[in-house]
Parts: sequence; C-alpha cells; structure tokens
Amino acid sequence: MSWLWTTEDMIAAMAGRPFGTLPEGITGISIDSRSISPGEAFFAIKGDRVDGHDYASMAMANGASLLVVSEARLPAMGRLTVPMIVVEDVLAALGRLGQASRARSRAKIVAVTGSVGKTTTKEMLRHVLSPSGKVHASVASFNNHWGVPLTLARMPDDTDYGVFEVGMNHPGEIRPLVAMIRPHVAVITTIAPAHLGNFKNIKEIAAAKAEVFEGLEPGGHVVLNRDNDQFNFLDRTAQSLGIEHIHSFGQHAKAEFRLAEFNGADENSTLWLTIGGDTLEVAIGAPGRHIAENALAALGVVRIVGADIEKAIAALATLKPEKGRGKRHRLSIGSGSFTLIDESYNANPASMRAAIALLAAAEPTGRGRRIAVLGDMLEMGEYSQKVHTDLAGPLLAAGIEHVWLAGADMAALRESLPESVHVEYREKTSELTDYVLNSVVPGDVLMVKSSLGIGFGKIVAALLDKFPAFSDTQREL
Ligand SMILES: Nc1ncnc2c1ncn2[C@@H]1O[C@H](COP(=O)(O)OP(=O)(O)OP(=O)(O)O)[C@@H](O)[C@H]1O
Ligand SMILES: [Mg+2]
Repeated sequence: MSWLWTTEDMIAAMAGRPFGTLPEGITGISIDSRSISPGEAFFAIKGDRVDGHDYASMAMANGASLLVVSEARLPAMGRLTVPMIVVEDVLAALGRLGQASRARSRAKIVAVTGSVGKTTTKEMLRHVLSPSGKVHASVASFNNHWGVPLTLARMPDDTDYGVFEVGMNHPGEIRPLVAMIRPHVAVITTIAPAHLGNFKNIKEIAAAKAEVFEGLEPGGHVVLNRDNDQFNFLDRTAQSLGIEHIHSFGQHAKAEFRLAEFNGADENSTLWLTIGGDTLEVAIGAPGRHIAENALAALGVVRIVGADIEKAIAALATLKPEKGRGKRHRLSIGSGSFTLIDESYNANPASMRAAIALLAAAEPTGRGRRIAVLGDMLEMGEYSQKVHTDLAGPLLAAGIEHVWLAGADMAALRESLPESVHVEYREKTSELTDYVLNSVVPGDVLMVKSSLGIGFGKIVAALLDKFPAFSDTQREL
C-alpha cells in the first residue's frame, strides 16, 4: 500500500497526540465530511460557516480512517472511540503537514497568482505538464489560507510538478501562503481591478500580488505579463528583491514568450508563439484571446521547468473550456438549437471584457442574436458604479445589440447604453431567469456572466434543465 502519509510521519509533522488505534497510514486528506473517501484523514477545520468538529461522526460514517481534531473541542465531542490525532489548532496542523510535504518533495513547484486567469492557467499547466511527469495541482480555486495548506499536504511524495493557485482579497494574504509553497516559478497572470473595494487603487493590488516574489526559492523564476500596465512596477519589485530570472509573456515586442499572431475562431484558436528565436504554431481547443494569453504563460513555465514543450503544445489542442469559464453548450429548442456560453463562475471588469470578446467572436445562425446576460460585479467598493457603466464601451465596440441584465449595480449599465441596444433589466436573478427561459430563440448565442455571489449559475442550470443537449445527428430544419 502506498500511503499519502504514514500516521507516524503525520504525528511527527503536526506534533500531535495519538488517540485510539490508529491505522498505519492515510490515502488522502479531506476537510469535507460529505465527499470524504474511505481511507482518508478528516481534518476538522473551522470554516466561515461551519466547524468541522460538528461533522466528525459523519466523516467516520463515510469512511474516514482517522480524525484530526483540536484539544479544546475534544470534551464537547462526547465519548468518541475513533482513531484520532489531537492537536492544538487543526488549521495550523494542516499547515505544518503542508510544510513537511514541501520539505520532502523533489517536485518542481509553480505558484500561479493574478487578478484573473489563475484557475484557467493552473488547469492548463496540469494539462500540459502531464505528458512530462506526475502533476499535482490545486482543486478548483483552493487558493486561500486553507486551500493552499490542504493542497500542499495532499501532494504525493513522487510528484514531479506541483501547481498551486494562490489568491487574495486583501494585502498581506499571499505572503504566508507563498512562504509555505516555496515555488521555483511564480506566475502573475495579470493585474486588474478585482476586490477593488479592499484597495486604494490598482497599484496596491499589484503590490499585494508581488508578495508572491518573497517566497520564491533562491535562484527561482518569475513570469510576468508584459502587456499589463503594472509590468514595470512588478519587474522593478522583483529586481529589488534580487530575483535574477524575470521572464515575460505577451504581445509586447520585448516579451520573452511572445504572441506573434493570434487567430481566434468560434470554438478554438491558433496562436504563434515566438520563444528563443523559434516561432511555434499552437492550436488551442478553446476560444478567446485571454485563453491564448494564459497559454503563453503556461508554455513559458513548461520551458522554464524543462518539461517537454512539443508534448505540451500537442496537449493544448485537446484543452476544453471549463464549467463557468467559457464552457459551451449547444441546446435544442423547437426544431433548432441555440448556444450557451457559460461564464457564470465569476466576474470582474477584466473577465467581463474577455467574455464580451468571446461573445463577439461567436456566430449566431438564422435569426439568432448575440445576447450578453450580465449580472453585478461585486466587491468594487466606491468604483462600483463606474466599472458597471464602463461596460457600455466594450459592448458597443463588440456590436452586441442585446443586453439582458439583473442586479442592483447593473441598473447603472442600463442607463448608460444607447437606445440602439435592446436592454432588458430585472432587479433579481430569478426574474431574469424566467425572462431568459421564455425569450431565447433558435440561432441565439447567450453569454451568461456575473460575480459568484449574484448566482448566474442558476440561469445556466435553468437553461440546461429546460433545453436538452442538441446532438450533431439532429438536423436543423
Ligand atoms: N488572462 C485573462 N484575462 C482576462 N480574463 C480572463 C483571463 N483568464 C481568464 N479570464 C476570465 O476570468 C474568469 C475567471 O477565470 P479563472 O477562474 O481562471 O480566474 P481566477 O483568477 O482563478 O478567479 P478566482 O479569483 O475567482 O479564483 C473566466 O471566466 C474568464 O472569463
Ligand atoms: Mg480561481
């Protein structure tokens, strides 16, 4: 049996107190009692809403092989006779196990941060590095004070490439996370207004992202977006920290991983990447210039860590956009079909623009329309009204004639669109859902996007529920 951790190593790493008859080792780690697999350890973490200690019995019932719990909560948990490792603080113990994992690892470690595109780039790296070795990467957007230690602690000791998403919504958040990760390569995808409500300005956001440099391994590499306004600031900051290997990607003539040309199609794209004097043609199985930009960064990392670039490029052709991040559905309606572009995962001004460009590049058929179904961008603080009204520019430039809106902040966008645009506005997501379900017609292309908290995932779910998938064998009449 190959264990993720032997119990002995876990106890040593976490300075824990063993209790009951412990198994020899664990096969995995979970912090969610509902999705735990048999043989895994359950760490009873206290989250924003729930305390894992309240779910300890459920975790055991679902197959947990041992529990990691806190000394203070032990009395309140009743007379449990299950195998446990008791620690002072469960989250801190997970962090210590994460650090032990990093210490035992021989993997090349990559940290990905940025205002948008972290998950997309991280998943791309998982995909393109896999042909070169064993990859371990964060699940979903597990990028915060529990997501990072969890991902580290879960890293098998025979990992060749570890890819970590690192996020933040306030200054000082990245520093301790990257200190645990100790990356050989740190990527900043781009700097854009996200969580702007917590910052004075964009420079402050860039400074907070630059904390990622501080945890870099000696002799490590940073990868920066040369086309971003904050490039010079980030470059200077990295230099001032004595970092010698500063790489850049983008369209800029001086970018090391340079986008020589981009050819976007409806459902895929091709880019020409100039790297070290060679120009390579790269087919990507997903549309959008923003995806191509993420791909430049990912291929740059492949080059830096010495993985196989040819195999990485071949892998990009089979990349598919993910749920909530550009995933496409062709759905039956009457005797025809329409296209749904699911961008519902999250939204800020940068990702809204990228998604509007995706919609602009999509082709409606027959009497179909390009329709932007947009909800509020949250956490914009005093800039909120401005960032919403400012979407009028990209929508008009892209020639989008149908804009369906919901949410308090989107009222500002409604006011700033000219009469030539057909605007529907509803206060609530549920009201807009009803309108969308009843108003879509064959040939339409709908792009659905809002901040996570606004819940436009419900609009996507309602469309998928009402309209069955259209299969290519069906004939459009
Ligand atoms: N390089 C990019 N530039 C602009 N927009 C992008 C870029 N990459 C992805 N996006 C857009 O941002 C959205 C979110 O992408 P992704 O999930 O990769 O970001 P993230 O940084 O992981 O976000 P979060 O902070 O919520 O975890 C996507 O749906 C897409 O519209
Ligand atoms: Mg993410």
